[in-house]
Amino acid sequence: MPGRATTNFMHPPERDLSRFVIEPEMMATVVIFGATGDLAGRKLIPALYNLWQAGYLPRRLAVVGAARRAIDENDFRQSMCEALKKHSRTGHGDSDRCDPFVSNLYYQQLRFDEPGDYARLKERLDAIEAAQGAPGNRLYYMAVAPEFFATIVEHLGPSGCTHAPGCSPWTRVVAEKPFGFDLESARQINRTISGVLDESQVFRIDHYLGKETVQNILAVRFGNALFEPLFSQKYIDHVQITVSETVGMEGRRGEFYDKVGALRDVVQNHALQLLCLVAMEPPARFNARYIRDEKLKVLNSIETPQGGPLAEWCVRGQYGEGADGPAYLAEDGVDPRSRTETYVALRLFVDNWRWAGVPFFIRTGKRMQKRLTEIMVRFKDPPMHLFRELGGALPETNVLVFRIQPDEGISLTFNAKPPGMDFAVRPVAMHFAYGHTFDEDIPEAYERLLLDAIRGDSTLFTRADEIESAWSIVTKIREAWDGAGPPVPYSPGTWGPAEADRIFRHCQGAWRNP
Ligand code: BG6
Repeated sequence: MPGRATTNFMHPPERDLSRFVIEPEMMATVVIFGATGDLAGRKLIPALYNLWQAGYLPRRLAVVGAARRAIDENDFRQSMCEALKKHSRTGHGDSDRCDPFVSNLYYQQLRFDEPGDYARLKERLDAIEAAQGAPGNRLYYMAVAPEFFATIVEHLGPSGCTHAPGCSPWTRVVAEKPFGFDLESARQINRTISGVLDESQVFRIDHYLGKETVQNILAVRFGNALFEPLFSQKYIDHVQITVSETVGMEGRRGEFYDKVGALRDVVQNHALQLLCLVAMEPPARFNARYIRDEKLKVLNSIETPQGGPLAEWCVRGQYGEGADGPAYLAEDGVDPRSRTETYVALRLFVDNWRWAGVPFFIRTGKRMQKRLTEIMVRFKDPPMHLFRELGGALPETNVLVFRIQPDEGISLTFNAKPPGMDFAVRPVAMHFAYGHTFDEDIPEAYERLLLDAIRGDSTLFTRADEIESAWSIVTKIREAWDGAGPPVPYSPGTWGPAEADRIFRHCQGAWRNP
């Protein structure tokens, strides 16, 4: 097309490094509350290291770990160095590369409810920033349980650790998921935070939104004329969202998980966010406000069935004993009489003009057959079977699959005529695989999200009203469970309980178990 740059799909253009100049605005001190916890060592520090190593963050990036434990700063550095060896996607490299990063790590003991500790934190941050000549921009990352969010933010304000919105230097706060435990606690946290910070300073993480393939849902839907017109009740039979995992409690998560369960752990956030991205209207502009406005409308339109047998729209499961691991009830930290679900399958409807009557099936579970996150969009059958007189089988239904992980990509199945004298139709598939098309490595979700928080771009973070709307859906589902029996058992290594097949009873199709 005249005047338009063309891109050879197989040979992507060189990365334009000029876009990655580090502005003073991006020179920030990152403070991690809960720095001795799992998330910091597995995800946050490796993500910061990878960004730093790739040149997205300043060489003298200061990262301050704050946690309750009294540990020596050198021990903290040492343990983060070990964490990098294990968890950094780019490898920790040789010590020469790792050392300058690790020597910019600091540790400050801090009790979350002790005002004096925040005053000491402020002194420490001021001193580090003065020594580095850093402007004092601060990103506070709350990698702690949600019951501490309000306490931390309430103390940050009076201790002088924060700056007003729109100021230079800036202050931003990132809250790790889960954001609350239910609608009431999420509202309470939001209320407290909004007394100290402006919404523009608050970044609620859902790490699924940082995954490349999740962002690609929007690129594919709104960057092509091809798919979008078909995404509606006119052409779509149903949508399936699967987030299945092979891991169980991993020997360490039982106590946390038993209070939470699959609905709160994955549906409230990751699965509903995926649903929003598939179902939302095109935003007026590609920015945080308009994208989040559209996602919110989807959440507000989700209808949870009122009345009717629960088994027709919701199945809860709990894994039993397997060849390679204990039953859920025998996991460390789990109440042996627990009724917490490790699997949940749902049939929901987005009750709006575009999607009325189209079921959205969601399932997620631990100890399942495969680690798989995908969205399958199943089209309606053609209005008539034109080839039936020719004796051919009924054409297969068209299916579009967004594979989020692993084997990231998109595939589309449609029907075509195989060569020969007969007129038959047979399903064929078109696959786009990230690994085959693009040379670039796929960054970790936390890399993208940390960088966006430092840049001040909240597009991939969840707004207060979105979080509350998602919690209210979960609350309604949980209310429907009241008085229901315990979750049904399923065998580890399977696709979950057979009962989950029944929620397709009134529609075509079945779970896609690739
Ligand atoms: C987390 C859940 O949010 O997401 C975990 O708390 C789950 O239970 C994890 O294992 C899955 O994330 P990912 O990126 O491995 O699909």
